[in-house]
Amino acid sequence: MKVLVVGGGGREHAIIKKLKESKEISQLYCAPGNGGIAADAVCVPYKSTEVEKIAAWAANEKMDYVVVAQDDPLCMGLVDMLKEVGIPAFGPDKLAARIEGSKVFSKDLMKKYGIPTAAYETFEDMDKALAYVKTAKCPIVVKADGLALGKGVLICMNNDEAVEAVTDMMAGGKFGASGSRVVVEEFLEGPEVSVLAFTDGTTIRPMVSSMDHKRALDNDEGLNTGGMGVIAPNPYYTADVAEICMEKIFLPTLAAMRAEGCPFHGCLYFGLMVTKDGPKVIEYNCRFGDPEAQAVLPLLESDLFTIMRATTTETLDHVEVKFADKASCCVILASGGYPVKYESGKVISGLKAAGETACVYHAGTKLNENGEIVTAGGRVLAVTAVAEKLPEAIKASYAAADKISFEKLHRRSDIGARALKAFEA
Ligand code: AMP
Ligand code: GLY
Repeated sequence: MKVLVVGGGGREHAIIKKLKESKEISQLYCAPGNGGIAADAVCVPYKSTEVEKIAAWAANEKMDYVVVAQDDPLCMGLVDMLKEVGIPAFGPDKLAARIEGSKVFSKDLMKKYGIPTAAYETFEDMDKALAYVKTAKCPIVVKADGLALGKGVLICMNNDEAVEAVTDMMAGGKFGASGSRVVVEEFLEGPEVSVLAFTDGTTIRPMVSSMDHKRALDNDEGLNTGGMGVIAPNPYYTADVAEICMEKIFLPTLAAMRAEGCPFHGCLYFGLMVTKDGPKVIEYNCRFGDPEAQAVLPLLESDLFTIMRATTTETLDHVEVKFADKASCCVILASGGYPVKYESGKVISGLKAAGETACVYHAGTKLNENGEIVTAGGRVLAVTAVAEKLPEAIKASYAAADKISFEKLHRRSDIGARALKAFEA
């Protein structure tokens, strides 16, 4: 079987490494891939948003299956386009991808079907939004409607900040079309849990839970990023919480999507907050999280390709989805200055040594003209170690990460610290 993965980050590298274990796959391709993925798959030089070109290429080259791993091509309808040319694909179609692509859609869905989430109001008119946030109870959260690379969410501690956030989003043009509608919602408190789940629209198989570390700096300070590290499983996701989530959130979400005429296939990501009133949905994503995938997939013992295909053919109830009863820790190595301004083209050393004791997934890397691997993005590498228990996994991933260097490397030094505290409590 020939399989194409669409995307070019650490998540796609983790998916490809896992798919490589499948005996059914004879050749893997990746569009566009990156400097590290090139060692594991044939890279095809299309940006993941060049959806028409990708669909045409996949048809021409007779791909048997395509894994669409990124939000943009999913929201642009790449899965629908592939279906039109007769290629089955992993991921939701365009209508189902709205669960991530539009916050207004997902919030309205949760309200209509009684799925627990933060109370909210939606605004298309800036004056009405401003009038509302001037007197609203703070802290309050202002979100751009569309995709904004995880940066379209502003937590405002007082009314002045909220006025500024609304103005920035709706008049400033900072978020382009994504900011023409905003959601203003209640501020929730509690530990955050990410749960990725395979689903074929009806059956759902949650993966091991995980904890992302979204802020750029230690102690959860600094700007929000795409994610600076992950541990799995998440100690706040107890068996009790898992049961409540299945009954009140996961199954109702699938049923809601079916009732709306857009059943969800692929990987549905539940961003949850375990509040004192129970778990609530902070956000849905229509794909694997990045870097959650880099911590969760190494724990998967079943065949990823078999599972993926079963989500497409709606036979997930027939396949085994088994995870190792172990722990993992993924540390992101980023370019200094990320998520704002950073330099690229720095030569990376120590990859081979680190790879002897950990999985080193490439995110923003490329091969330069001398055949060296150099930095080519904000998040550069994801270093994941698996161990029996979390403390060893943390130690092993940092020990491997210590072997890697490039100019102005930035990483957090406290990935997993909050989770370890949960065990003490
Ligand atoms: P999102 O892009 O919706 O996942 O939001 C990014 C981050 O902002 C989340 O991971 C939370 O840490 C935070 N956040 C979003 N919504 C809320 C909320 N209603 N209350 C508190 N924090 C939130
Ligand atoms: N790590 C969060 C995300 O993938 O959206």
